[in-house]
Amino acid sequence: MEFKFADRMDNFQEGIFTTLANIKKKRINENKPVFDLSVGTPDFVPEKHIMDALVKAAQVPENYKYALTDTDELIEAVKIWYKRRYRVDLESDQIMSLYGSQEGLSRIALTICNPGDTVLVPNPGYPVFAMGPMLNDAHIEYYELREDNNYVIDFKSIPEELAKKAKAIVVSYPANPICRVAPVSMYKELIEWAKKYNVIVLHDNAYSELVYDGKEGISFLSVDGAMDVGIEFNSLSKTYNLTGARISFAIGNSQIISQFKKLRSQIDYGIFLPIQKAAVAALLGPQTSVERNKQEYEDRRNALADGLASIGWKGVMSEGTMFAWAPLPDGYTDSQEFVLELINKAGVVCVPGSAFGSLGEGHVRFALVYPVEKMKLIVQAIKESGIIKK
Ligand SMILES: Cc1ncc(COP(=O)(O)O)c(C=O)c1O
Repeated sequence: MEFKFADRMDNFQEGIFTTLANIKKKRINENKPVFDLSVGTPDFVPEKHIMDALVKAAQVPENYKYALTDTDELIEAVKIWYKRRYRVDLESDQIMSLYGSQEGLSRIALTICNPGDTVLVPNPGYPVFAMGPMLNDAHIEYYELREDNNYVIDFKSIPEELAKKAKAIVVSYPANPICRVAPVSMYKELIEWAKKYNVIVLHDNAYSELVYDGKEGISFLSVDGAMDVGIEFNSLSKTYNLTGARISFAIGNSQIISQFKKLRSQIDYGIFLPIQKAAVAALLGPQTSVERNKQEYEDRRNALADGLASIGWKGVMSEGTMFAWAPLPDGYTDSQEFVLELINKAGVVCVPGSAFGSLGEGHVRFALVYPVEKMKLIVQAIKESGIIKK
């Protein structure tokens, strides 16, 4: 039988990640060293009180029923967390859970866009920002994040015609892959711009707790007027090392939340109750691990950035997220070619900037997923490979 699949399947190419995985596998089979700094999965473990809450709830037979909705306890926990952390007061109808921000971002455009409606997304940016709306048959236009503007949005550079046409804009800081944090002034401008052109703001705050150098991450919702124009995605994945548990929240404008809930009531019977219990334990329990993880990521960033600078690879940086963003070393211009050479010569796997959009070219992204001592070994491996041309 000849199957006829949807045209949209042509949008998905296996691309660089499959190539990287294959080369990695081959090196492992050949007993050659591999340092995988490509994927952003935290190597830290969840706190015991969170796992205990999950285990305890998993032993209650009642908890295996469809959850259908978020428990009151979970919604209250989010309210308390947002108030404590950002001084933001939330109402219950401004909060809903998701199976991770990835899932939310892949579906939210269904509630906002008719086929062909325009969504603005960052270039460079995290792939689901574009893929999600595309999957929902929206039309994607990119706004540029340029190094010479410190990678924050230059609203003047978005043509008026495009702003008038846009239904939504995806914004995300601390930003993956460019590892920058946005100032409050940018959010103020964003809100003004969104109101002027009637554009919904979708702010992804997946790395809200991973901001370095003594600074604190902020919530988009803590800026005046934000509730009028959009929602924020906030995830427990990186904050509490719960990536596999798949729980995050969409929070903000109650009209958008209520439409999204209506849509999801057709496809979703609620988050597994033991996961909801674990989330409550994470949000209301001791927060010491959050600070500890942040410090460890910062130390890793320093070990990598300072180590690479000392061998002639300058400019590796990160203000936040669990990644570092690096210009290609002198003598290289093609990020994909460079990444392949880096694996083959040093066994170090990272992601070419071009995988995040055309403006990512000329850079690579490292995930800060090894302890400081191993970061030093990685620097040594890169040094010994001779790939840095002095
Ligand atoms: C910017 C960004 N948003 C969202 C996600 C996905 O988060 P979640 O685990 O909540 O789906 C990631 C994961 O790497 C990410 O980097």
